[in-house]
Amino acid sequence: MQQLKTPFPWAGNKTRQMSEIWARLGHVDLFIDPLCATLSSLLGRPGGAQGVERVNDICCNITNFWRAVICDPNQVAHYCQWPVNEIDLNARHYWLCDRSWGENSIKAQLMADPDWFDAKQAGWWVWGQCLAMGTRWCADPAISSRGHARPKGAKPVHQKPRTIDTCPGVASPNVDAYAWLQALQHRLQQVQVLNGDFARCLTAGSTWKAFRTVGILLDPPYSQAMRSRMLYPTDLGIDDPNQKESAVRTRQWAINNGENPKLRIVLCGLSGEHSMPKGWIAYEWTNNSGYSSIGGKDRTSNEVIWFSPHCLKRSVQLDLDLAG
Ligand SMILES: C[S@@+](CC[C@H](N)C(=O)[O-])C[C@H]1O[C@@H](n2cnc3c(N)ncnc32)[C@H](O)[C@@H]1O
Repeated sequence: MQQLKTPFPWAGNKTRQMSEIWARLGHVDLFIDPLCATLSSLLGRPGGAQGVERVNDICCNITNFWRAVICDPNQVAHYCQWPVNEIDLNARHYWLCDRSWGENSIKAQLMADPDWFDAKQAGWWVWGQCLAMGTRWCADPAISSRGHARPKGAKPVHQKPRTIDTCPGVASPNVDAYAWLQALQHRLQQVQVLNGDFARCLTAGSTWKAFRTVGILLDPPYSQAMRSRMLYPTDLGIDDPNQKESAVRTRQWAINNGENPKLRIVLCGLSGEHSMPKGWIAYEWTNNSGYSSIGGKDRTSNEVIWFSPHCLKRSVQLDLDLAG
């Protein structure tokens, strides 16, 4: 089976690490990716959909995009392919920011109605994410790139498009967006999509109480001290000194639950970012994809994936685990 590609570029995308991650997760009855972004985890899962799969992200544009792809991939494809045009990019950015952050935010509609989605917003958002990624696309206009409050009514940051030949993802003029998004719809048919803080997907009742084996991928935004601020459009903790950032909270959750024999937990981060207890295995890799840079001028980062004590050992064959 040909592996489906992720449809848009994203800082911290783990596509290239999925074979290592799945070799250590093996077959699990429930898989949870609570900070999912591009769904590289599901798209890189050997053998496709299995068991129960649950994904979540706090960013309403990501959640709307995946819901729209599942419900109406052709409409999303219709809106996501458009010639490169700086005026259009900025006009759409204003429209999207208003609906992402203003009084007209789609978050309430997404939450209130499980059938609600906006294919136009999904298509325009992914078009811009492919064309303008790295330029604070759809980031909250009320917060500056340094994380400071901007005046009420501040305009979204001006967007400058990439040149056409470097446009990646489903907005590239060289791809069949309809076929790509239809294939994604097919893959995601049974996937549960949530929108909110990651911790809501990790309660005992929804995870290990109901399932024999649970795989959990924790891939939070890198700690703010180690990367440029506002690398992500939504990032709890960045504008609230009383709120611990996601990197700290996911690490704490991983440490608290690492000894649970039902759980195979994977925590991603930068080298030196997390100090994990004895029994966790650290897998080091160098990220030079450019999209996953930690911001600013850095194009390469040294990263680590930590595997909890009950993850499979690398030498154990996946089929042995399946047989068990
Ligand atoms: C490094 S990216 C994940 C990349 C993903 N694994 C992939 O391969 O595409 C981190 C994601 O966490 C999301 N996020 C940040 N804080 C969150 C929180 N408290 N709860 C849920 N999602 C959060 C961001 O919106 C972003 O999409």
